[in-house]
Amino acid sequence: MNKRFFITTAIDYVNGQPHLGHAYEKIITDVIARSRRSLGQEVFFLTGLDEHGQKVQQAAVAEGKTPQAYCDELAADWKAFAKKLELTNDDFVRTTEPRHKEFVQAILANLHAAGQFYKETYKGFYSTKEETFLTDKDRLPDGTFDPAYGEVIELEESNYWFKLRDHQQWLIDYLEANPSFVQPDYRRNEVLGFLKNSMLEDLCITRPAARLNWGIPLPFDKDFVTYVWFDALVNYISIPAAHGDPLSGLGSGVLVPGDGTGTAKPQTPDAKSQLQLWPADLHVIGKDILKFHAVFWPIMLKAMGLPLPKQILVHGWWQKEGAKISKSTGNIVDPVAVIDEWGLDAFRFYVLRELDIGPDGNWTDAGFRARYQAELANGLGNLVNRSLSMLKRYRNGVVPARHDELAAAAAKAADETHALLKQNQLQAALHSIWGLVTRANQYVDQTAPFKLAKDPAQAKRLDEVLYNLAETCRVLAVLLWPFLPGTATKIYAQLGLSGTPDKFSEATWGGLQPGHKIGEPAPLFPRKDG
Ligand code: MSP
Repeated sequence: MNKRFFITTAIDYVNGQPHLGHAYEKIITDVIARSRRSLGQEVFFLTGLDEHGQKVQQAAVAEGKTPQAYCDELAADWKAFAKKLELTNDDFVRTTEPRHKEFVQAILANLHAAGQFYKETYKGFYSTKEETFLTDKDRLPDGTFDPAYGEVIELEESNYWFKLRDHQQWLIDYLEANPSFVQPDYRRNEVLGFLKNSMLEDLCITRPAARLNWGIPLPFDKDFVTYVWFDALVNYISIPAAHGDPLSGLGSGVLVPGDGTGTAKPQTPDAKSQLQLWPADLHVIGKDILKFHAVFWPIMLKAMGLPLPKQILVHGWWQKEGAKISKSTGNIVDPVAVIDEWGLDAFRFYVLRELDIGPDGNWTDAGFRARYQAELANGLGNLVNRSLSMLKRYRNGVVPARHDELAAAAAKAADETHALLKQNQLQAALHSIWGLVTRANQYVDQTAPFKLAKDPAQAKRLDEVLYNLAETCRVLAVLLWPFLPGTATKIYAQLGLSGTPDKFSEATWGGLQPGHKIGEPAPLFPRKDG
C-alpha cells in the first residue's frame, strides 16, 4: 500500500453561501492536487463542511429550521459549488456524518481514559460569536474587547478542559527544528512569537448541552457536547480512518467507535478500500485559523500518539476594491456570477495570478478585466487561435516536420514550472508559463508566417514556424492543466489530440507527430467589449 499525497482544505462553516475567500482556498488546493497527480504522485484531496457549533445553530434558527435540515440544504449548495470550481477532491466530509462523529467520540473516550482532560468550573467572559472564553489579556488598551468578538457576556460554567499547557515547550522545540512545518516563514514566526511570549491556556473542549446542543455528544458525559474546533480538526484523521487508513501512530488498529460509548476498537478494514493517507502532506488554511492548526492540532495529535502533518500552508485574505468583504455592506464578489459571466478558468486564473500564497490580496473588477483581456484573450487565446488557424489555412491542418526553434524556451518554462509546482509556488509558475506565451507571440510577429505564406520559396520556413507554434501550444496545454483544466483540455482537443493533458512528462518537446491532423480552432477567451 502506497502512502498518498494527502492534501486538505479548511472545512467551511455552513452558515451562508460560499464567497471569494472560500473559493480561493479551494482553488489553490485543487491546483496543488492536480499538479502532484500530473507529476506522477498518488493524491488524496479532502475538503468539506464544518456543520456544528453556535454559528451554524444560530443561522438555522434565524431561518426557522432545525440545524440538521438547514445543513442538509446548504450542503447541497456547497457540493454544487465544489463542482462548479471543478475541484478534483476525492472525498467531501460533512462533520454531521456518522463516520466522523463516531470517530470524534472514540478519540474523546481514549484521551479521557488517558487522563488528558479535567473538569473545572470557569467564571469569566465569553464571546458567543467566536465561541471562545476571554480573559483580561484579551482586552484592548481602552479596556474593551475587540469588536471582532461581538457581544461579550459574563458566564460561569463547568466544562472539560484539555491539558495544552504541558506541551508548550515541546511545540516550540518542534517548530524550531522543523522550519518548513508552517509556511510562509513569517507565519511560522508568528506562531513561535505567540508561544514564546505567552503562557498557553488549557483548551476548553466542551460546551454544556443546556446552552448549545448542536454538537457531538461527549461519550462519557451526556450533559456536554464537543467544542466545534475539537470536532472540526479531527476531520483530517476521521476521513482517512473511514477509508481504512491504519493511522500507524495509533498502533495496530484504527479507532473505530460506533457503540455510543466511544470505546475504540481495532478495525480490520476491507482491503479494497484501504488507503494510507495520514500524516497529511499539506493542510491549506487561511491566516485567521493558524493558531488552531499550528498550536491546538499538533498538541491534540501528540496526545493521541499520531504523527504530525508535514506542512501547514497559510494563505492571506482577500479584500474587494480595498475594503473588507462583507455581506452587510454589499462589498462582495459572487464567484458563481463571475464564473457564469467570464468562465471558470478566467476566475481561477485571476485569483492564482493576482495573489501569491501568503500575503493579503485585493480583488478589483478593473484588474480582473485587464488580466482577462491582456493575458487570457490577447495573450494565450490569441496565440493558440492564430497558431492553429494558420496551420489549418496554410497546411490544411496537417502538422509539418519537427523543428526545434522554440524547444529551448519550452524546456525552460517546463523546468521552471516543475520546480515551482513542487514548492507550491503557483503564482510564480504562471509567471513562467506566460513567459513562454509571450515568447511565442513575439515569434509570430518576428517570423510573420502570413507573409511567408505568400511566397512559395518560403514553404520550408513556413513549415518550421508552424511546427514550433503548434508544438508550443501542446506544451502549454500540459503546463496549464493544473491551473486551467478546461482551457488545457480545449487546446488538446483543438490540436486533435485525444485524452487530457494531465501528465507533466508530456511537456517534453517533440510530442506532435508530423502528419498528424489537428482539430478545429475556436477562440478560448472571447473578447468582451464594453
Ligand atoms: N470552519 C472553520 C475551519 C475549520 S478547519 C478544521 C472556518 N470556516 S470558515 O468558513 O470561516 O473559513 C474557511 C476558510 O476560508 C478559512 O481557511 C478562512 O481563512 C478562509 N477565508 C474566509 N474568508 C476569507 C477571505 N476573505 N479571503 C481568503 N480566505 C478566507 O474557519
